[in-house]
Amino acid sequence: MGGMTTDIKLIDEKGLRLDGRRPDEMRPLRIEAGVLKRADGSAYVEWGLNKVMAAVYGPRECHPRHLQNPERALVQCIYNMASFSVDDRKRPGPDRRSHEISKIIAEALTHVVFTEYFPRTSIDVYIEVLQANAGTRCAGLTAASVALADAGVPMRDLVASCAAGKVADTVVLDLGKEEDNFGQADIPVGFVPRTNEIVLLQMDGDLTNDEFTKGVNMAVGACKKVYEVQRDALKRRYSARAADEGVPGPAEEKREVA
Ligand code: CDP
Repeated sequence: MGGMTTDIKLIDEKGLRLDGRRPDEMRPLRIEAGVLKRADGSAYVEWGLNKVMAAVYGPRECHPRHLQNPERALVQCIYNMASFSVDDRKRPGPDRRSHEISKIIAEALTHVVFTEYFPRTSIDVYIEVLQANAGTRCAGLTAASVALADAGVPMRDLVASCAAGKVADTVVLDLGKEEDNFGQADIPVGFVPRTNEIVLLQMDGDLTNDEFTKGVNMAVGACKKVYEVQRDALKRRYSARAADEGVPGPAEEKREVA
């Protein structure tokens, strides 16, 4: 980000990006909830070329015990990028970047979870990036909040996330890998639609005030679309579970009322 130079034209004469997207266009997003049998909740996200899995355990006894809070649950997150997720093999294990991402995602999720309902416990969120192509913290946060809902953890709302940024002097949505490497700025945003709050905001690179405002507005607009995809995934999950258990799902309930 900002600094690396390239001969690649990130935006062509028609105003289109390397993968043919318009500046305000997001990469295709697909979410599936409840994909792991042994986790309390889980979600799988494919977002462009990103592939991310999230698993949730808890609320359960908090370890290490000195982290227990007698008044609320602790939301803990571990973000991990698989060695095979990037072009140059990533050295396994935690590093500064994964610590940072784990921390900001845990903080964003803490804002929406009713932590006061579960004193002394821990809600553990694991994010595994299987394939990375820029925007993995947004994909990870998006997946994690669906996994929390799938686990039945009470929340004010889901957190939806998307980044905006600047490439070739243009404010764009949802940067791809080359745009992240050779672009001028990246602003990941985590947004809570029901309360209209931003719970994650970072900025890498340089932007004017106007560009920053435009970028954040663009990212918030995209988060509202991400939110719809998250809700659809949870509705499908609920219907499938209800069908398994012989309980009428939302579709049947509606039919019965009519
Ligand atoms: O993934 P995100 O955009 O949230 O975080 P980043 O630190 O801005 O990383 C951008 C991208 O760089 C990642 O999604 C990966 O595709 C790539 N990357 C990599 O190739 N090797 C690393 N050790 C870290 C990141």
